[in-house]
Amino acid sequence: MFEEKRIMKLNRRKFIKRFLIVAASIEAIFLLRDGVNKTDTSSASKDLFNAGKADSFDKNRLYPFSTGQFFLKRYEDGGFLAMSVKCTHLGCIVNANSKTGGFNCPCHASQFNQFGEVLSAPATRPLDIFPITIENGEILVDTRKPIKRSGFNKSQLSYA
Ligand code: FES
Repeated sequence: MFEEKRIMKLNRRKFIKRFLIVAASIEAIFLLRDGVNKTDTSSASKDLFNAGKADSFDKNRLYPFSTGQFFLKRYEDGGFLAMSVKCTHLGCIVNANSKTGGFNCPCHASQFNQFGEVLSAPATRPLDIFPITIENGEILVDTRKPIKRSGFNKSQLSYA
């Protein structure tokens, strides 16, 4: 009887030990898998918004990307600028103004020109821009990194 209890106790210990080893192994597998996935998702172009082929955009035209929350403008010289749709006053979504080529904010009437520079207050600084990378002819916009600026200059444009 005593011997039987001892054997059962040993078996229980063995079982718990094996269970813990299996649980730790499963945890290790998930940790490794998550680690690999994290590396994959942080790879540069996966997190970038692919706006499409550069040569599919006409010059002197504005393209809204509501899911990316930016306007992509291609200027006369072929340069691209990705501007945030958020007004720099209090963050309302600006509308494109087809007459001026700029933007109007519906909340407090700020106006911006075609480069996103302020034409009328209360906004005091231009629309933020997003970095553009052109890879294999595709326009990739990094919407995670809005860039504040004090004005427009040609170095902000990206070319295919
Ligand atoms: S939020 Fe655009 S003018 Fe106030």
